[in-house]
Amino acid sequence: MTLTATSFDWVRQVVHRESAIVLAPGKEYLVEARLLPIARQMGLADVGQLVDNVRTRPSPENTRRIVEALTTNETSWFRDGDPFTALTTTVLPALLAARGAGERLQIWSAACSSGQEAYTIAMLLEDAMPNAAGRVSITATDLSREMVERTRAGRFSQLEVNRGLPASMLVRHFTRAGSEWEVNASLRRMVTATECNLAAPLPRMGPFDVVYLRNVLIYFDLPTKQAILRRVRSLMRPDGWLFLGAAETTLGVDDSWERVVLGRSSAYRPLKGA
Ligand SMILES: C[S@@+](CC[C@H](N)C(=O)[O-])C[C@H]1O[C@@H](n2cnc3c(N)ncnc32)[C@H](O)[C@@H]1O
Repeated sequence: MTLTATSFDWVRQVVHRESAIVLAPGKEYLVEARLLPIARQMGLADVGQLVDNVRTRPSPENTRRIVEALTTNETSWFRDGDPFTALTTTVLPALLAARGAGERLQIWSAACSSGQEAYTIAMLLEDAMPNAAGRVSITATDLSREMVERTRAGRFSQLEVNRGLPASMLVRHFTRAGSEWEVNASLRRMVTATECNLAAPLPRMGPFDVVYLRNVLIYFDLPTKQAILRRVRSLMRPDGWLFLGAAETTLGVDDSWERVVLGRSSAYRPLKGA
């Protein structure tokens, strides 16, 4: 049995309800490809049977597996480069000048996937300032439990380290662990990974000086983007910095942000009084 229109619609609704991710018509192939391994693990012949099974006997665990399978976890080290250059050249000096010596800087990698973004930030900070671990905390969050566990583990395959991690940084910040590479303990101490659904009320966190909310708003509809930007802003310091993905912007979405050009990149800052 292949995926019927009714089954596809059911998956669409569940994924939207649980994560706000929009699966547009035409994404049937994606649903089939991502859910087939789960169907097989459950001893079912195809995705149609999986949907029937979970519809008639709903369980939070199976719903979670379906939703997580439909998240896209594409990521890499220093993704797009410029938002990370801007951190060390502009944002960090501005924050260090504005904050007292004993004040902790708080950075959020929202939708962190397997952790490359959070550890990219951690490496840059460790290289840029003495006692970074004592001065900075990085909160890494994702909807996907599997991604949060991967971030916590801080272990990466050779294929993964090949995607954007300079050799000098690999040597300085990682230790070989069998066929994988493990992030050094000083970086892991800086990063706390936890589950968080951006589309639901956010837990008490922050206030954050810098937020990387990159390559995730693209999956949501306009009202969801607006609600997320509002919630993220409420967890930021008034002089904080927000980095979005290259294809994302607050312009035309939420006018309570000011866009600031930083070299070849840009960041968004809460507009005063907005
Ligand atoms: C394409 S990855 C982006 C990773 C990283 N920020 C980067 O730019 O490389 C998108 C991530 O968003 C997560 N995600 C999707 N919907 C989410 C939601 N409602 N709340 C939190 N995270 C979500 C996915 O699990 C996935 O890991």
